[in-house]
Amino acid sequence: MKTIIITGASDGLGKALAEACVKNNMRVINISRTKSFSGVENICCDLSKQEDIDRAVEIIKEKYSDFNVLVNNSAIVGYEPINNISYEKFERTWKINTIAPLYLISKLYDLIVKNEADVLNIGTTHSQHAHPGIENQLAYCATKYGLRGGSYNISMELKKTKSRLIHVYMGGFQSRMHEKDYGNVMTDHENWMKPSDLAEILLYLVNLPKGIEISEITINRKGRRG
Ligand SMILES: NC(=O)c1ccc[n+]([C@@H]2O[C@H](COP(=O)([O-])OP(=O)(O)OC[C@H]3O[C@@H](n4cnc5c(N)ncnc54)[C@H](OP(=O)(O)O)[C@@H]3O)[C@@H](O)[C@H]2O)c1
Repeated sequence: MKTIIITGASDGLGKALAEACVKNNMRVINISRTKSFSGVENICCDLSKQEDIDRAVEIIKEKYSDFNVLVNNSAIVGYEPINNISYEKFERTWKINTIAPLYLISKLYDLIVKNEADVLNIGTTHSQHAHPGIENQLAYCATKYGLRGGSYNISMELKKTKSRLIHVYMGGFQSRMHEKDYGNVMTDHENWMKPSDLAEILLYLVNLPKGIEISEITINRKGRRG
């Protein structure tokens, strides 16, 4: 049975991916502050805290050391006006969106290589090019560019191994991420992709044939650029 570790499988895209994986008889480990649905095992962890990540790594080494896939999916928006962003908000967004996934990979790197495991980093089209719709998202864009840079570095290192890293530039999808961050309730669901559709694509990526390498992929709604 394949074991997949997903950060942020308690909600949104991570949860949809967890559902698809469970349906496909995979063992799913969620890393987040709240639990996911029954059928998923949970490691309670606030990814903004180093001690929590270190503890999660210890649990993985003890209980799930044979994992096959790590999906870095957790993120926050860190929404604030450009002329009034607090240091605290900036720092928290960096910790969750950039430092946590890259630190997690670093701490698990030897196991990733040993297990010939694959890594998926969930990025955003907001770290590909500038376009309207990113107002008040300085921290989000900057931190996701940081994740992109880290993905480049790690995927080059992994080329010497049997593991792979796929950086996913994800376009907008139905989610409560913005609502949770600053109360912006999504009302135009039809304009955004469905997490369940995206989960099927990610499921394919985490089961990619061994001889194939996809380093980066952009997934977007038909006709949309960003
Ligand atoms: N929504 C979009 O339109 C969109 C577009 C492009 C890319 N993305 C990317 O897709 C990914 C998933 O987004 P989503 O919309 O599915 O988000 P979401 O519904 O808000 O879910 C975010 C997940 O991250 C976890 N999380 C948040 N803060 C955390 C913390 N401090 N420690 C541990 N886990 C934490 C949450 O779990 P807990 O609250 O239980 O901790 C939750 O499971 C993100 O990387 C996002 O940047 C989203």
